[in-house]
Amino acid sequence: MDAVPAAIDDVLRRTIDGGGHVCVLTGAGMSAESGIPTFRGTHDSLWSRFDPMRLATVEAWREDPALVWGWYRWRMHLVREAEPNAGHRALAELAQRLSLSLVTQNVDDLHERAGSIVDAHVHGSLFALRCFACERLHDGALDDYVDDAQRVEPMRCMACGGHIRPGVVWFGEALPHDAWATAVDAATRCALMLVVGTSGLVYPAAGLPALARRHGATVVEINPEPTALSAEADHVWRATAAQALPLLVR
Ligand code: OAD
Repeated sequence: MDAVPAAIDDVLRRTIDGGGHVCVLTGAGMSAESGIPTFRGTHDSLWSRFDPMRLATVEAWREDPALVWGWYRWRMHLVREAEPNAGHRALAELAQRLSLSLVTQNVDDLHERAGSIVDAHVHGSLFALRCFACERLHDGALDDYVDDAQRVEPMRCMACGGHIRPGVVWFGEALPHDAWATAVDAATRCALMLVVGTSGLVYPAAGLPALARRHGATVVEINPEPTALSAEADHVWRATAAQALPLLVR
């Protein structure tokens, strides 16, 4: 892989020359080369090892907050130990050169640490901690990470004493209103949408490429594997994020 496929190069040039807006939608595959596991698709992906219904729902939290906090504490630790990859860095550079919105389903902060401004974290952010009871943001320090601890008692809210939860969207919860509105706006007005590292199985985020296309955008998928979105993309580039994205800024 040493060049942008001609058709994609062409559409990118035309978008830049026409002053068009680019919307990038990223998913877990974006951070895979930083060592963060994806949710699906490999034997060691998160949802093949863990049951989302026991770990990523409000009911799971009510049932056993220490189990859920312990699991998210482990995921926060993985992210803290990880570094942005060449793909994250390339997107930050691309945003310096053209009008670009970055919409991510990822709850990590690797885009930000690579220098990007994330316009919309549609599934929330791991580190945007808040109280489960009173919803107040928790701005105190994170508790110490304990290796291999399955259950960890969640921190307590300084205002009401409630349990502190991770700032992610759990199954069955609504997406954060402002982030979703921003994502829809970016999808609606872009001339080009790059869909990077998502299986396209989780709605409503998976509906953004179709929305962009209905509004006239060209949709390019960057993913080493076929996905639920491949058929509706105008172009597919079978490459990883860290291989493909740096070629766009060369
Ligand atoms: P998935 O785990 O469902 O899909 C990851 C995608 O990344 C797959 O299509 C892989 O082929 C692709 N992939 C793997 N390695 C890659 C690489 N190096 N470069 C590019 N692509 C690569 O992740 P998402 O689509 O993000 O939701 O999952 C969507 C949502 O499902 C997540 O946000 C999460 C999960 O349940 C919530 O937690 C609410």
